Amino acid sequence: MQGEFELRKFVAPEYVFGVGARNLVGRYARNLGGRKVLVVSDPGVVAAGWTGDVTASLEAEGLSFALFTDVSPNPRAEQVMAGAERYQAEKCNAIVAVGGGSPIDCAKGIGIVSSNKKHILLFKGVDQVQLPMPPLICVPTTGGTSADVSQFAIITDLVERVKIAIISKSVVPDLALIDPLTLTSMDPFLTACTGLDALTHGVEAFVSNASSPMTDLHALEAIRLLSKHLADSIRNPRDVELRVKIMEGSLLAGLAFSNAILGAAHAMAHSLGGEKDAPHGECNAILLDHVIEFNFPASPERFERIAEAMGIDLRGMTPSAKKNALLEKVREIKRAAGLDLVLNRIGVSRSDLPILSDKALRDPCMMTNPRRPNRRDIEVIYEESL
Ligand SMILES: [Fe+2]
Repeated sequence: MQGEFELRKFVAPEYVFGVGARNLVGRYARNLGGRKVLVVSDPGVVAAGWTGDVTASLEAEGLSFALFTDVSPNPRAEQVMAGAERYQAEKCNAIVAVGGGSPIDCAKGIGIVSSNKKHILLFKGVDQVQLPMPPLICVPTTGGTSADVSQFAIITDLVERVKIAIISKSVVPDLALIDPLTLTSMDPFLTACTGLDALTHGVEAFVSNASSPMTDLHALEAIRLLSKHLADSIRNPRDVELRVKIMEGSLLAGLAFSNAILGAAHAMAHSLGGEKDAPHGECNAILLDHVIEFNFPASPERFERIAEAMGIDLRGMTPSAKKNALLEKVREIKRAAGLDLVLNRIGVSRSDLPILSDKALRDPCMMTNPRRPNRRDIEVIYEESL
C-alpha cells in the first residue's frame, strides 16, 4: 500500500461535464486545429442519435468529417487498422469518438497507428507509444468504461484470443465532453454492466498497491455514488438526475483507476473478454465479490472504508462480520442490477480455466492487485464464479 514518501502522479484530461456537453464538439475540434475529423462510433450509438448530434456540431463550425462505425464490442486490432487506413485516405487531422469504451478505445488505437505508422499490437504494455496521437475528443455514451479520461486502451487480438492493454499518457484524450443525457438511451442490461464496471474501477483503484491520496478521494466518492444510485437508475432510465449521478460516479472512478491502475477482477475480465468475447462489464460483475473475498485479508482496513462508502454501518462488528457485510452488499448491488450471474452463462466451463488463468496472470492489471495470487488462486476464483 502507499507509503508516505512514494512518488505518485495524477494525469487527467480537460473535461466538460453536463447536459449538452456533446454539442460543444465542433467548437473544441476547431480550437484544437481540426480541419477534417474522423468520427469513430458504432451502429447502436448512431441509431440513438448521439453521433448525429456530434456531426451536426462539426458541420455548424464548418468542419468536414468522415464517419467510421465498423467497431464491435471488444474492439479488434483489424478494426483499428481499418480505421487508421480510413483516417489516412480521408486526409483527417483530428479524431472524435462517440460511444462507449469500444469506439473510444478503437479511436485511441487509430490515433496511435496514424502517428506511429506501426501495427497496433506492437504498442502493448506500459509506455510503448513514442509519438503523440492527433487531437482526440471523446463523447462517452455509457456510464462505465471511462476510456474518455483514462490512459488505457484495450484492444482484442483475435489471433491470440487475448485483449492487449496499451497503457500510456499518450492515450489520454485531449478533451472529454461528458454529457449525462447520452446515458438515457442505454437499456437496463447495458446500464447494469457499465455501472458494475465503474464500481469495479472504484473498488480496484482504492485497494490497488499504486493508490494515492488523490486517487482515494475519487475512488471512494465513485463507490458511494454508484452503489447508492445504480439500481434506481436502472429502474428509471429516463431520470436525468439519476443519470448525472451515475455519470459522475463513472468519471470519478475513471480518474481513480487511470492513475492507480486496477487489479485481479480486471485482469481476469480481460482474459475472459479475449478468450470468450464476453461483455467487459458483465465479466467484472460476475467476478467482483469473489475477487474482494480473495483480496480482503491483504487490506482489511481499506475494504472497511469501501463498505462504509457503500453505506454499511460497521460499528460493533467482528472482522469477519465486516467482511461478510461487504460481500453481502456487493451481492445485493449485483442482484438489484440483475447481474447475479455465473460464468457458465458466457460459455465458460471448467476446462477453460487453466488457459484463462494463465492469461489473467500475464495481464498488466494483475501487477497492482493488493494480494499476489498464484495460478491456483486464480483458478479457484474462476471456479467459484462458474
Ligand atoms: Fe473496466
